[in-house]
Amino acid sequence: MHRRASQALVGNGARVYKRASRIGGIMSFRHRHLLGIEPLSPAEITTVLDLAERYVALNRAPDKRSDRLKGLTQVNMFFENSTRTQASFEIAGKRLGADVMNMAMQASSIRKGETLIDTALTLNAMHPDLLVVRHPHSGAVNLLAEKVNCAVLNAGDGRHEHPTQALLDALTIRREKGRLHRLTIAICGDIAHSRVARSNILLLGKMENRVRLVGPPTLMPAEVGALGVEVTHDMRAGLEGADVVMMLRLQKERMDGGFIPSEREYYHRWGLDAEKLAHAREDAIVMHPGPMNRGVEIDGTIADDINRSVIQEQVEMGVAVRMAAMDLLARNPRANTGREGMYV
Ligand code: MLT
Repeated sequence: MHRRASQALVGNGARVYKRASRIGGIMSFRHRHLLGIEPLSPAEITTVLDLAERYVALNRAPDKRSDRLKGLTQVNMFFENSTRTQASFEIAGKRLGADVMNMAMQASSIRKGETLIDTALTLNAMHPDLLVVRHPHSGAVNLLAEKVNCAVLNAGDGRHEHPTQALLDALTIRREKGRLHRLTIAICGDIAHSRVARSNILLLGKMENRVRLVGPPTLMPAEVGALGVEVTHDMRAGLEGADVVMMLRLQKERMDGGFIPSEREYYHRWGLDAEKLAHAREDAIVMHPGPMNRGVEIDGTIADDINRSVIQEQVEMGVAVRMAAMDLLARNPRANTGREGMYV
């Protein structure tokens, strides 16, 4: 049908792009860490996506190895369960030639009473170059980043940010739609508990898209009025004319009360099925960060429909975007000097 659109390489932000310095055809990325989308400029977002395009090609080649991170040590610290994100970061680091270590944080000294900061300082003394951290508390990754000399990548902190997810979503959208601006994007479901939603709202807004949040009032964040987005509680109205339909998982682990009447009722009103999707544009793509609750937020048939769903492409883009992000942080010659305050 309509998918596999052209692959435009430059999205919005091209104006700033031209002014910035470049390394090997790719613009430099002047951040010491990747903690969120908030501090990134449109040009920097474009830089990550352009470099990720190169890694998409490498990842599809028979020989997938590169030595960009050769000799560097990457430590993955996941304080919250994760399968896909941890695997994605691990594959990304290994393809770039880093020595990758996964720390089993569930069984770590944190359990024995050590604080997050002590763990960070202990690890720091072993001279890692890249720390990939997921933590259930918003802000914990930023705190940790202040205490270490190496580059820190936020792999998701509480309800705060999940920057590589938003970047991989952006890359998927850009490849599918041929651009990353002036699109109507409906983000649907449990917005209140979702770091994926927050990072996507920031990124898509910076790239000048029209963002609509769709979901029950109980699952909208309190500060929704300040986000500069449209809000509707009616799924059909929210999907009307949308180019992209981004579904979110019900984050039950972050709910401390009855936010929905029942899963059945939720699916009936806000679950994505063929009838509701018919309100979006005919060529609208369907996204989901995974893991999915089939039959709760999305109908399994739609999730598996290769003409509409780009969910597997999102997973593929995840590896490429994480390779690009780690490559850019490692390129920064100042990243390991420990001179605080030199970075944005
Ligand atoms: C996350 O960690 O936030 C995931 O990628 C999305 C989810 O858990 O629903």
